[in-house]
Amino acid sequence: MPRHVLAICGSLRATSINRTLLHASQMQGLKHALNITLYDGLGDLPIFNPDNEQTPPKSVLAFRAQLSHSDAILIASPEYAHGVTGAIKNALDWVVASGEFMQMPVAAINASGRATIAQAALIETIRTMDATIIDDACVTIVLNGKNYSTDDIINDPETARLLDQALGSLRKALDESDQKRDIA
Ligand SMILES: Cc1cc2nc3c(=O)[nH]c(=O)nc-3n(C[C@H](O)[C@H](O)[C@H](O)COP(=O)(O)O)c2cc1C
Repeated sequence: MPRHVLAICGSLRATSINRTLLHASQMQGLKHALNITLYDGLGDLPIFNPDNEQTPPKSVLAFRAQLSHSDAILIASPEYAHGVTGAIKNALDWVVASGEFMQMPVAAINASGRATIAQAALIETIRTMDATIIDDACVTIVLNGKNYSTDDIINDPETARLLDQALGSLRKALDESDQKRDIA
């Protein structure tokens, strides 16, 4: 059965390598019956304000709805000054209390070999939101400096292997949680 995955890119840059990696994931995901949709509203979310949490603007409601209709989340986000990007942290802050990440299977893929601090911080934040981090799916695929296109990622044996590992692990985790639910 196909499963629906929402992919979130933490960079707003037009030529983001993280977004290219997520586009490659969309193609490679079909092998694992994962229908991956790229969330394109990150830049439209207002700066998080807890005062507006109960009556959020439409962009936030649309984001929450897209998360609720997904079986898993895939994130690729760069490191800025040893932290996560403001854009991804802002999006996550809007859904800490509303709960869409709770028990949600999440894979965070890292497109840079250097961005270890942000990757760890991102995973810590998501874990704190009670999501289920799929450790085997949280791979680092070194793309910085390579200027790869989506096709290059799919055709390079090493990047394709790592992406396949991430998406295969995510699919396996979804299947295992289905089995547990059937037994219970
Ligand atoms: C403001 C800023 C700060 C950055 N700080 C770091 C950093 O601390 N560590 C790092 O590895 N790369 C850092 N970088 C490099 C980016 O992570 C890198 O260019 C990455 O490819 C950007 O992702 P994108 O192509 O998806 O936009 C920084 C870039 C910017 C614009």
